Amino acid sequence: MGFPKDFLWGAATAANQYEGGYLSGGKGLSVQDTVTGGDGIHGIPRYISVRYADGTTGMLKLGMGCELPAGAVAYVDEKQYYPSHVATDFYHHWKEDIALFGEMGLKSFRLSINWTRIFPNGDEEEPNEEGLRFYDQVFDECHKYGIEPLVSMNHFDCPLHLASEYDGWASRKVVDFFLKYAETILTRYKGKVRYWITFNEVNFLRSYHMIGITETESNPQKLAQAIYHILLASAKTVRLAHEIDADNRMGMMFAYLLSYANTCNPDDVLAELDFSRDIKDFYLDVHCRGYYPNYKLKEFERKGIRLVKEEGDDQALRDGTVDYIAFSYYNSSVISSAPVGEEAGGNHFGGVKNPYLESSEWSWGIDPKGMRIALNKLWDKYQKPLMIVENGLGAKDRVEEDGSIHDDYRIDFLRKHIREMEKAISLDGVELWGYQVWSAIDIVSAGTGEMRKRYGFIYVDKDDDGNGTLERTRKDSFYWYKKVIASNGEDLD
Ligand code: BG6
Repeated sequence: MGFPKDFLWGAATAANQYEGGYLSGGKGLSVQDTVTGGDGIHGIPRYISVRYADGTTGMLKLGMGCELPAGAVAYVDEKQYYPSHVATDFYHHWKEDIALFGEMGLKSFRLSINWTRIFPNGDEEEPNEEGLRFYDQVFDECHKYGIEPLVSMNHFDCPLHLASEYDGWASRKVVDFFLKYAETILTRYKGKVRYWITFNEVNFLRSYHMIGITETESNPQKLAQAIYHILLASAKTVRLAHEIDADNRMGMMFAYLLSYANTCNPDDVLAELDFSRDIKDFYLDVHCRGYYPNYKLKEFERKGIRLVKEEGDDQALRDGTVDYIAFSYYNSSVISSAPVGEEAGGNHFGGVKNPYLESSEWSWGIDPKGMRIALNKLWDKYQKPLMIVENGLGAKDRVEEDGSIHDDYRIDFLRKHIREMEKAISLDGVELWGYQVWSAIDIVSAGTGEMRKRYGFIYVDKDDDGNGTLERTRKDSFYWYKKVIASNGEDLD
């Protein structure tokens, strides 16, 4: 019973939400550096500052259906506030933060490498040595505390130059640029990093601010080609990583949107099947089985989409299947064939509101049992080891007069999920390598650009407008998670 002895209890972050130092140490601009802050509670969206082909500029609202027209590029407008520029400043606090992670007893720490810190434009011949040195220090410091780094090569991140000059992942050339970046970091950090993720939430890589392509909505052929390039780059990276070091453990990462059919009406069940295939199964099938599934090929046929491939691509997909499946799990969703009732919130997709679940302040349905279901579905279907690399609660925290932060709601959320995870291991026999809570420390929200939507065990003094001392304070959940880790998941009180 219980968790395996070497279970990776950890916590996660992402460079564009945490690192800051957006032009320090030779770093180049990333598309994320052109996305403004927002306010989810008050419905204020995030924007991208855009320069159109005719030279005019404007602010484009991010969200469903938003796209940059061909020829448009994003840029940094000095009058705007961009949360990624400083974020919660890991760049200048890495030593202090890793010491706190060590104090908490983390066995693993998930972070992403900023592509533009290594290749500022993305297409240079030589990498930026100062950027490489930054992560050397970070990984060495992690090992000092016995923390295993778990590294995402790409977390919603594309060099702005690649977007402006090549139309991002729509260009086949970007596959080679990414492979060069991957080879550089795999070689440099050999022996320091063993657990890798190629792309974060690969099933959501569809918009300009993540993959740097224009016409994402109006040109399905181009989007399908860009997604193909990403999946191909991921597969080629897996193979390369195994060649560089047979000890590397290569994972793909996707957002597990567990979905339920709204009723037993077969139309709802079919709608749920379509949703699951489109939003997650397709990506899993390619990464785990090494080829495009028939339902996707049929969809392409119907839509008149023809992928442009090169010789050897099919083999590369087959050779690059992953060693383990990494996924984020926040909420489940309910799918209906017809519009009904109230919409629910969620990371990227809400669906119909589930009457059996409580919701977070941001209306995400809280479904701990869904996590056990997700683990079982994945294990049954692919028989590959699993790793939960994001799970957590975004909530507003209050700092008391004495400086303490009593985040019992977060503890409650995590405790319920850990219990279900334990059942999946000990009652269902699922092979689970680890659990990375989102997030190790407060960072900027990806969806809303807010600071007030906090996930961390460590509070960072910073507000939605970028004001604050950046001082770090341990929350109650910090001490609680420390106990959980020390008892290998037995003491959840
Ligand atoms: C995941 C992303 O979708 O959800 C993270 O990988 C993100 O980057 C997390 O932060 C939580 O979403 P949000 O919008 O609340 O920050």
